Amino acid sequence: MTNTNAVIETQDLHKVYPSWRTRLNLAPAVPALKGVSLRVERGEIFGLIGANGAGKTSLVKILLGISRPTSGAARLLGGVPGDGAIRRRVGYLPESMRVQDHLRAESLLHLMGRLNSVPSSILRRRIPELLEQVGLAGVKKPVKEFSKGMNQRLGLAQALINDPELLFLDEPTDGLDPLGRKEVRDLLTRLRSEGKTVFLNSHLLSEIEMVCDRIMILHRGEVARTGSPEEFTRGAGEVVIRLTAVSEAVRAAAAGVAVVAWQATALRFTPRDQAHLNEMIDRLRAASADIEAIEPVKESLEQFFLKVVAA
Ligand SMILES: Nc1ncnc2c1ncn2[C@@H]1O[C@H](COP(=O)(O)OP(=O)(O)O)[C@@H](O)[C@H]1O
Ligand SMILES: [Mg+2]
Repeated sequence: MTNTNAVIETQDLHKVYPSWRTRLNLAPAVPALKGVSLRVERGEIFGLIGANGAGKTSLVKILLGISRPTSGAARLLGGVPGDGAIRRRVGYLPESMRVQDHLRAESLLHLMGRLNSVPSSILRRRIPELLEQVGLAGVKKPVKEFSKGMNQRLGLAQALINDPELLFLDEPTDGLDPLGRKEVRDLLTRLRSEGKTVFLNSHLLSEIEMVCDRIMILHRGEVARTGSPEEFTRGAGEVVIRLTAVSEAVRAAAAGVAVVAWQATALRFTPRDQAHLNEMIDRLRAASADIEAIEPVKESLEQFFLKVVAA
């Protein structure tokens, strides 16, 4: 591990949870992480996805210094996870932050800020800003009366209380309605534009697809894929050709070029190459077809993910 520009860097992380059953040789130890190496650059929104039990929380806990790897190494902001000075530059929204508190959001954030060693003078300015950013400005009721969505917004404000350079978010849009999810996405892209790095973990794949720069698929403790949403949703080369109308002559022309699937006046097929696609267009035009549009068929991140984890 030589490059210190990476905000997060891990090398061959392994995590095995010992249990009394494995200690007594009653069962083999089940590894949660099996050699995870990753790199997250400054200013990225990095998405971690994987099925339940894939090892996502285990990985995040190691990065936060809450848990130690069985073997392998991790570096965070040029230091080691768990170091107090590093931890103060990191924000964390845990998966289920539940605060049953009689305090109001403002007071609770002040308390949390003080616990994070943020000076009161800074908090007096920052807390109203944060409440505004997460859409809780003017909310006066005690936190224990908050809805799930309001709790989630408060959790985000709490994660940002120390103005962190690196933000870990476990399911940040859980419990939010579509408008709330959009607000969170906007907040994350704003943080990115300020040069902050976001490490995001969500099972809402459409959210991940919309906001992340890079995505890692964790599968049974291993890195299955790392790539951009564009790479993952590019599809398999299938195209759809939309016509204004379809005749028997057009159908016959298309069938002469490739195996096609018709859906009303649109045909789908997978050209071997560009020449094959052009041949299709020539034949359709020769049969007097009126072409409205030609579009690549994209995949959703969910479709891609399901294919990867089924393999
Ligand atoms: N504290 C623990 N003790 C024993 N096994 C654990 C512990 N935490 C997680 N595991 C196991 O490690 C695997 C990965 O879990 P986890 O990291 O929570 O996955 P995810 O967050 O992707 O759902 C699972 O098989 C889980 O049962
Ligand atoms: Mg988890």
